[in-house]
Amino acid sequence: MSSVEGKEVLLIVGGGIAAYKSAIIARELLRAGAKVETILTDAAQKFVGAVTFAGLTGRAARTELWDASFSGELHVELASRADLIVVAPATADLMARAANGLANDLATATLLCAKGPVLFAPAMHARMWSHGATQANVRALIERGATMAGPVEGPLASGEVGMGRMHEPEAIAREAIEILSKNSSDLDLVGVRILVTAGPTHEAIDPVRFVGNRSSGKMGLAIADAAVERGATVCVVHGPISAKAKHEQRIERVGVRSALEMREAVEARRESVDVIVMAAAVADYRPATVASEKIKKGQQELVIQLVKNPDILAGLGAWRGDKRAPVLVGFAVETGDLVGYARSKLERKGCDMVVANLAEHGFEGDENTVTIVTKQRADALERQPKRRVAEAILDRVRALLRE
Ligand code: C5P
Repeated sequence: MSSVEGKEVLLIVGGGIAAYKSAIIARELLRAGAKVETILTDAAQKFVGAVTFAGLTGRAARTELWDASFSGELHVELASRADLIVVAPATADLMARAANGLANDLATATLLCAKGPVLFAPAMHARMWSHGATQANVRALIERGATMAGPVEGPLASGEVGMGRMHEPEAIAREAIEILSKNSSDLDLVGVRILVTAGPTHEAIDPVRFVGNRSSGKMGLAIADAAVERGATVCVVHGPISAKAKHEQRIERVGVRSALEMREAVEARRESVDVIVMAAAVADYRPATVASEKIKKGQQELVIQLVKNPDILAGLGAWRGDKRAPVLVGFAVETGDLVGYARSKLERKGCDMVVANLAEHGFEGDENTVTIVTKQRADALERQPKRRVAEAILDRVRALLRE
């Protein structure tokens, strides 16, 4: 039996040309074994008919907040029944109203009453999508726990090509099924705010050169993705990296270049998070001075004097002092005696956990071999994908949060 068998999905159809594709979302969900109930907004009914969805789902499609034939409160009933609400297409207007808590039609009143996960599939013209107002509304919805599927780049109704096209209906249905198949025990970080640092830092020598390292940022992004899937609110402060997260839409990204910039970004956020994972390979030294113009290659030898960068993690440890929050996790790359060095780092930097790996593993690749060291124990994990290492780290973070 499929894990979504008998689960209740409420499909809210907004008023966009992509509304006709929502019938396919309903069909895919029904095929997977879910039960589907539909709400059509007034605008949606300009594009598709309630009869289409009634015919597909075997249930009357709802359109009215004020439904005299219904004796209870329809929006409360629909929201209470739903294991998942899917909003597709999620128009700019519908998301704006939802983000601002409006409840002036059946769709928004039901969303305001939602008790479970909500998946939005935005669809609109590229300029509407990139407008600051829409982006702020999307951020507000994500911060409150909603998931965004898409939009994607492609041909738009206007004939132009751009970002704003609704994700393919099959992909939206797959995402919905993934959310539905999760047990509530898998969402063990709901309400937890996590800050992850990732990637290298680049320390400028002159306007075009820098001192850096080979960190790819993949470990930090794997932690961010895993945390998002477990329900956490995630911010990634990262140095220059090209790697992308699986859940870009659900992560707040803050790009920095140098260690000093990274420290500023982390310190600005440290009081509003529950966990900080310092997975970044912060440069230990930076050039003492940054040449304002490109250094010419005239001389045979060039000496660049380096000065020590502040240790961001140690700074966080000192700031936190005896408090237990936020939970602090550091990383360590060593060439030997993993546990010994990790323990002393734990003490010296005042953190709760150090994830240590040998220098020959870890950088750039998709796998890592780590030992997770806390005050009480050291667990050597076998070589495995960074994503699984991320899950192991978060398991221990959750245990620390519960202590
Ligand atoms: O001392 P070491 O560089 O081995 O420590 C690594 C850990 O400390 C990592 O978690 C890294 O993100 C953090 N770190 C830092 N600031 C530095 C150097 C390292 O926060 N300047």
